[in-house]
Amino acid sequence: MKRILLFILPILIIIAVVFTVFGIFQVRFEEKLAMDDLQRKARAVAESVELSARHILLNNDLKSANRLAESFQNRERLQGCVIYDKDGQILAITERISGWKQKDKPYIKDILDKRDSRGALEQLEDYSVYSYILPVLNDDDSVLGLVEVIYDTSYMFTTLATLWKRISVTLIVLILLIALVALLIQRQIFILPVRRLTQWFSHFQRGDTDKLRPFEEKGEFGKLISEVEQVALGLRVARKVVTEEAHVRLQKDELWTEDKLRDLVRAKLGENALFVVSNREPYLHVIDETTGKAKCVRPASGVVTAIDPILRACGGTWIAHGSADADRQFVNSKNKLGVPPDDIRYILKRVWITKEEEEGYYYGFSNEGLWPLCHVTHTRPIFRETDWQMYKEVNQKFADSVLEELPAKNPFVFIQDYHFTLLPKMIKEKRPDATIALFWHIPWPNPEVFGICPYQQEILDGMLACDLIGFHVQFHCNNFLDTANRFIESRVDTEKFSVVRANKETFIRAFPISIDGYMGAKSAKVDPVQVGKIRKEFQLEDKIVALGVDRIDYTKGIIERILAIDRFLEKYPQYKNKFVFIQLGAPSRTHIKRYHELMGEIDDLVEKKNWKHSEGNWKPIIYLKRHFSPEEIKPYYALADICIVSSLHDGMNLVAKEYIASKNDLSGVLILSRFTGAARELTDAVLVNPYSIEEFSEAIKYSLELPKEEQKKRMENMRKIVGENNVYKWAGDIITELTGLKKS
Ligand code: G6P
Repeated sequence: MKRILLFILPILIIIAVVFTVFGIFQVRFEEKLAMDDLQRKARAVAESVELSARHILLNNDLKSANRLAESFQNRERLQGCVIYDKDGQILAITERISGWKQKDKPYIKDILDKRDSRGALEQLEDYSVYSYILPVLNDDDSVLGLVEVIYDTSYMFTTLATLWKRISVTLIVLILLIALVALLIQRQIFILPVRRLTQWFSHFQRGDTDKLRPFEEKGEFGKLISEVEQVALGLRVARKVVTEEAHVRLQKDELWTEDKLRDLVRAKLGENALFVVSNREPYLHVIDETTGKAKCVRPASGVVTAIDPILRACGGTWIAHGSADADRQFVNSKNKLGVPPDDIRYILKRVWITKEEEEGYYYGFSNEGLWPLCHVTHTRPIFRETDWQMYKEVNQKFADSVLEELPAKNPFVFIQDYHFTLLPKMIKEKRPDATIALFWHIPWPNPEVFGICPYQQEILDGMLACDLIGFHVQFHCNNFLDTANRFIESRVDTEKFSVVRANKETFIRAFPISIDGYMGAKSAKVDPVQVGKIRKEFQLEDKIVALGVDRIDYTKGIIERILAIDRFLEKYPQYKNKFVFIQLGAPSRTHIKRYHELMGEIDDLVEKKNWKHSEGNWKPIIYLKRHFSPEEIKPYYALADICIVSSLHDGMNLVAKEYIASKNDLSGVLILSRFTGAARELTDAVLVNPYSIEEFSEAIKYSLELPKEEQKKRMENMRKIVGENNVYKWAGDIITELTGLKKS
């Protein structure tokens, strides 16, 4: 609309100016014509009464003078007549204009002296009149008196006003006509073809090939469209070739890599891109507090660690909550941007939610309700009705945002985590042809625990709209099947591991998640200068270093870890001055009371235990409480002789796998909680029960004293497991399963 205005506004302004100037001239011209006409008439009338007036003035016949003046009483425009004597005194005046007597007439004297006639506009009371005065001369050219004729001029102004009105109406009609014609032309030659092109692109983009009709545009626009069609056609052919090549390459049996996953996605999903939905976005644009400028950071999130390499490999669209303060500055009109910002591989679509929605859906229902419910860590889940309402609203908001993006046929939607239990049903209702998988990144509790959730029916109903639901371990799958069996009208098939509800079958499978396993030369590289800097900064040169890397969350067992270190130093003081534990802690969900309290508890405990054990410059615990990027964490992994993962309950825990993947030289020991999903795969870790401080402290000693050869053997075994079961295999297994289900 703005563009159309820019186009027609100058034309309309020129027309309006030309018309106004023309109007002014026309009115002036008409005005002059009318005045000339009036003067002519007035003069004729004055001359016609001149003879009678002469006679009256010569005889000083007042009676005849009055009769003459009164003879004008009933004329329409001619208002009246005035007869003056030779001194300019009124002898007779038409009754109708008797008010004229009072008027000051300085020009009379001049006319008497010069003996010239005079015609001019004058004011009579509140209206305008035309006065024409003719001197009446004697035979000897002396002035006998004057005859004045007064005309009403209001009719003249009415005529001029009507003329103005006519010009203005013509101008308005002209402007409207021109605007209308311009709009029609613009629509015909620009908007309609562009709209057709946009529609064509949208069908092409969504893979809706049935609706792609060839264009029949002519001229320059036609040429442009034809070029666009050629590019699109080329793209389609290229996609097809890539899919076929991918099929061929997949036949080879080799370790899962980025390329192999890319081939699988192309072969199985073809032209359909992958749509991933999660709450946490993989790239946040935040305002740097020190510089005040926006910067891009990766959040501390298992979901992000796992899914980002997959989308980097395969492309697609990731739809997530745009939660950071500078996020809006970096998206286009459709709320999308290419990421990673320095090497664009896929699209991130940000969904905006209000503070109120975030409070209820994210902090409330997801993290004060479902999170403690699923993690058996004795933090009481809180279920508020208002949070549940917000959770439903935000799920619907995400469903709408996803539906806008889906291609025309058979889309694949991969939903992440407990934030979106209702989303599968909301999408499936509108797009029954969509294949939907949900991966549950946290544990699934047994039916007794799940049973306390007041919204159990709706949650299970929403989730069972999926074609596939994935958990990290079989134990969680079993818990889910038991839960469905107990709480929702359905048939649980323990042979096929599926739940059938209202003729819809949902398959439940275990897919242990992993990392991209940066075991190859490229990603395992760590800058030795960085490692040296850290060693120097914290005086670690001759120390045995243990490391913890976590979000500050009560499920991570950070308190238990510190207590175990305390106990270890109590029992084995010979390690004082030799052992240092570094905890990297990323503040998380600090808006929630329990998380806020936990931060304070950890601060107090670290301070207390450091005070208790410190000797000289040495203190046992270095607590670095801030967000660390993956690149910043790498040198810490490199220098850590031990990595401690002591979650009280954890779906998988990727820190354990990252530590192993970073240890190219096969050094290092992993102390791992039995209550993590990772403990099922990484059986060569030193497994602990973090609730047993005694056992935990012994495990620290055991790890420190583990012979180097034994360390290497264990690390080698674990690296083999992580290398083979990397995140590409995880995604590959899910996609294979999903596309397999679709065919059956
Ligand atoms: C867990 C959840 C993820 C979440 C992450 C970080 O790993 O499974 O979905 O992203 O914690 O939590 P946050 O609330 O910061 O996203």
